[in-house]
Amino acid sequence: MTTVTNDLRVEAKGLTRKYGDLVAVDSLDLSIPAGTIYALLGPNGAGKTTTISMLTTLLPPTSGTARVAGFDVAAQPAEVRKRIGVTFQEIVLDKDLTGREVLDYHGRLYGMKRGERAARIAELLALVELEDAADRRVKTYSGGMKRRLELARGLMTRPQVLFLDEPTQGLDPQNRARVWDYLRALRHSDGLTLLLTTHYMDEAEALADTVGIIDHGRLVVEGPPERLVAQMGADVIHVSGEGNGADFAERVRALGYVQDVQQSNGRVLVGVDDGNRRLAEIVTVAGSAGFRIEDVSVARPSLGDVFLKHTGRALRDV
Ligand SMILES: Nc1ncnc2c1ncn2[C@@H]1O[C@H](COP(=O)(O)OP(=O)(O)OP(=O)(O)O)[C@@H](O)[C@H]1O
Ligand SMILES: [Mg+2]
Repeated sequence: MTTVTNDLRVEAKGLTRKYGDLVAVDSLDLSIPAGTIYALLGPNGAGKTTTISMLTTLLPPTSGTARVAGFDVAAQPAEVRKRIGVTFQEIVLDKDLTGREVLDYHGRLYGMKRGERAARIAELLALVELEDAADRRVKTYSGGMKRRLELARGLMTRPQVLFLDEPTQGLDPQNRARVWDYLRALRHSDGLTLLLTTHYMDEAEALADTVGIIDHGRLVVEGPPERLVAQMGADVIHVSGEGNGADFAERVRALGYVQDVQQSNGRVLVGVDDGNRRLAEIVTVAGSAGFRIEDVSVARPSLGDVFLKHTGRALRDV
């Protein structure tokens, strides 16, 4: 007999959180196996932080259940907390402490012995490349350094599951890429399970084994990013302009090589087998539908296109 459930580090069923009439997280089901990276991708207000808060025992669910590292978040919160690390969306560091003190304090809070703390701190400072800055006060750190210190703090107690709420928010591309490298390295070294939230589709694509797209508290689609993207077609032709987009989309849909068509607000996305080869005919069809093209381009599909397909809105204009 196989017991697959034992390998799940995060398991949510019907997880729901309401604020008055607002359903911030709506019947969320999650199954995240050990040693994988899961990215919850969604726009502002989608319910990402609320989900993390429930899974990390900081916020009681209104209904539904969740188990993290094998324990129920509502019934066994202390057991859950022993096995997780968290980094918050807003940086919460005591700025008068040095980086080393931040890590040491956190280790003491969790009952780690002095020698164990020192060894772990050395390891983590090396991982996030803060050795040179370790004895400076946090208030002298750059935004990127603070994020890296937070990551180290989240890892201090050797968690089984690390929750990262928007781990690269506000970082420049270089610092984002560094954080991505650390996270990838972690998965390969420790078999750690990571659940991160992001509103950057490139981040989800770059890191995640599984992406869940969340919108208005609901998980609208889930899967390996490459599979979600492949369903859009090999290429996506982006057409924007004025006229009857619905009629244009309808005509395009009838073409044999078209794999997917999405249409909203003067924007039509056409998933095709070969963008450059099909471009001319798509433009001709637009003309015959009376759709006046202002801009057209061919690109590889992205998770942004997947988001539009499932929500009817572009990830960037919500
Ligand atoms: N304490 C609260 N009281 C009332 N409403 C709340 C509270 N916290 C969150 N909300 C609402 O719940 C919804 C989900 O918020 P949440 O912070 O989980 O979104 P998010 O996906 O993390 O957004 P962002 O990308 O901006 O961080 C939003 O509509 C928000 O306004
Ligand atoms: Mg948030």
